[in-house]
Formats: sequence, C-alpha cells, structure tokens
Amino acid sequence: MAQKLQAPRGTYDVLPDDAARREHVEAAARQILGAAGYRRIETPTFEATELFARGVGASTDIVQKEMYTFEDGGGRSVTLRPEGTAPVARAYVEHGMQKLPQPVKLWYLSSFFRYERAQAGRYRQFWQVGAEAIGSADPAVDAEAILLLAELLESLGVRDVRLRLGSLGTPETRAAYRAELQAYLRAHEGELSEEVRGRIDLNPLRAFDADHPGTRSVMAGAPLLLDRLTGEDADHFAEVRALLDGADLAYEVDPTLVRGLDYYARTLFEFTSDALGAQSGVAGGGRYDGLVEQLGGPPTPGIGWAAGIERILLATGEERVPPPILDLYVAYAVADRPTRAIGFELTWEARRAGLSAQFELAGRSLKGQLKQAARAGARFVAILGEDGATLKDMETGEQEQLEPGRVIPVVLKKGKTLA
Ligand code: HAM
Repeated sequence: MAQKLQAPRGTYDVLPDDAARREHVEAAARQILGAAGYRRIETPTFEATELFARGVGASTDIVQKEMYTFEDGGGRSVTLRPEGTAPVARAYVEHGMQKLPQPVKLWYLSSFFRYERAQAGRYRQFWQVGAEAIGSADPAVDAEAILLLAELLESLGVRDVRLRLGSLGTPETRAAYRAELQAYLRAHEGELSEEVRGRIDLNPLRAFDADHPGTRSVMAGAPLLLDRLTGEDADHFAEVRALLDGADLAYEVDPTLVRGLDYYARTLFEFTSDALGAQSGVAGGGRYDGLVEQLGGPPTPGIGWAAGIERILLATGEERVPPPILDLYVAYAVADRPTRAIGFELTWEARRAGLSAQFELAGRSLKGQLKQAARAGARFVAILGEDGATLKDMETGEQEQLEPGRVIPVVLKKGKTLA
C-alpha cells in the first residue's frame, strides 16, 4: 500500500462542520461591514516580494523570518502574502482609487502564510477577515473601524475580549522617542538583563516586555511614547478616545503596545481573548498613514484591522452549527432503471422548485435509505415504487400514497404550513 500523505505542518483541512462555522463568520462580517459601507476586495495569493519588504518593513520578523518566498518560472521573486494591508494599499494605488470618494472602505476574508512555529492558534496558513479604510485621517474613521471590529467579535460570541489601545504618533516623534529611550536604558545599563542590554540598539521597546525584575523596575520609570506625542497626534488620539467613550466601548490605554509591522503610525490597537491560551491575540490593527506613499501612491492616510478566523473560532467555543435542513430525500423501493430515472429527475425538479433535495446514490436497501434520509435531516422522504410514490413525513411519521408528479407540490405546501 502506498504511504498515506498528510497536510503540511502548520496547515489543516477545513472540514464541512468547520466550514459551516466559517460561513457564519463570513456572513456576520459581510452584514456588519457592508452596513458601514465596506466593500469586498480580494487580492492575489502571491505578490512581488518587494511589496512586503517595502510595505511591512525589512526589519520585521515577518519579512526577515516568516515569508514563503520563491522564484517563479520567470525568475521573479514572489511571496505568498503574509498579511493583507500592503496588498490592499497596492491595489488602491494600482487602480487609482484615490479618485473615488474618500475614504475607500474595503474588506477581505482570505488566507495568509507565515512560516511560524506551529501551535494551537498559530498556523502557517491561516485566515483573516480584515477591513481597511483608506483616504481619510479623521479620527472618526479610527473609532468606526474599532467599533465595527468590536461588534463583529461580540456578534460572533468571542468570549472574554479585551481591547488595548495606544498611539505611536508620527515616525519623527517615534524616532526622537526611541533615541530618548535608548539614552535612558544606557543610563541604567547595570540594572538590565543581559538580553535587554544586548537589544538597546536594535529594539529598545522590547525592554517593556521583559520579565527580569531589575529590568522591570527600570522600565517602571522609563519615558513613554504616549507622553511624547506632539499636539496634532495627541489631539487625534484624544478624539479617537472620546468617540469610543461616547460609544461606551471599554478599553485600556496601553502606552507600551507594539505590533510587529512597520507601517503603523498614530492609532494602534489589539483585541485579545482570555479564553485563548498563549496566542491570545484575536485581532489587531492601526493607522498606516505613510504606507500608500511608500508604495508609490500620493500621500494618503489609512487605517484598518484584521482578525484571525481560527482564533475567533477557538474563542467562541465548540458550539456546532446544525446541519442544513433537507426538504426532500428521494428513495426507491424498486431499484430498476425506469424507477431510478424518475427519482433522479424528481430530485432535480425539486431543486428547481427551490427545495433542497438529495437522491439515493449508494444503492442502499430501502431500510438503509430511510436511515440515510434521517441522518441527512430530511423532512420528507419520497419512496418510489411500482405503484407511484409514498411520501413520508419524517417528523410526524405520516405516509401518503400519491403520483410522483404530486410530490413537489405537496412538499411545498406542507413545508410552508410548517415554516
Ligand atoms: P497581525 O496582528 O499580524 O496584523 O494579524 C492579525 C490577526 O491575525 C492576529 O490578531 C491573529 O488573530 C491572526 N494571526 C496572525 N498570525 C497568525 C498565525 N500564524 N496563525 C493564526 N492566526 C494568526 C495584520 O496582519 C495586519 N495586516 C492587520 C491590519 C490591517 N493592520 C491594519 N490593517
């Protein structure tokens, strides 16, 4: 026997029960985002590698370690998309969307690829539902985007959600702050852990995440970026907060919030769920006011977020979506060719009449067919025999004898009285 093959590590199959739950997430996203004027976009699964190097940032973990990059047959370097914001910004520029009324609101539900250590809630191919609003710096766009995400997570029943909110200011503010923090860390070098000391040049912000007691006490007195925001950025953040407060959305201001993508400026946020384990981030996003310009477009502000579908499903628990109701199962008591032909045709006619219908396809005995009809959740079973059809109501057990041509009208009528 040939050896069995398995899906690659960090990937998984979406089986029908799981697919039903995902469709539910998609329907909720379409409804909630659609009502706010977001329209669907889908970009290609792979892009020129340069898009992510420029858009996501050459020094990020994503670009340095996690991309699936390969050369195609024509010698071009392409990359399976690790995220959706840079591709959407690329599409905005490529299709001249700056000529449309601004902001342009787009949403997507797609799969993404990162070569990460696979574990519960972390995959190498994963799915995100995301939203991007490009072309307006109005703090109301930020607040609206965050509220839509909160509504989506709530409507899906994601448990124990917490929102952390921060602001990064402009790249200039950030650069000045970084230098200030580095100077502060150097002044306290002796009290820091070796690891943090080694990263002062590369990534001083990481010091805020350290567990080391000495480092923690140093960081308790460290300068905070939020306190260094310039007038306009501080006003923007205050306005976003006021709108969220007005909408009664609970959040925690986290002055040390960082996210692993370089394009962020100003508003930054992350939703976590305490119902998840180590991978507690359900969704995250922020403003990326420099990204479109970096990709060759005109200076254009933007903001968006993405939520992980797997993590949403993990955080909503295991409730099963019931299988769809089947209106009619077409069975046969006589397995000859003409009877089967009538059954086959009847099944199609039922579908054309708007019913869900299935025809016996596995050559079961009549008993087996009735069992299968029950498993499939059939409301009615039509059993074709030598003298016409028997229509069985699976709920009441009632049976009636009728012409095959009467089956559909009767099912339609009875179905209606039930609904
Ligand atoms: P991100 O924080 O990298 O942001 O990903 C967003 C969400 O995708 C995470 O909160 C998590 O739920 C899910 N996720 C990320 N990596 C994995 C993985 N390996 N396995 C399973 N789920 C994962 C972005 O991707 C930005 N593009 C979000 C954004 C949109 N910012 C502005 N607009």
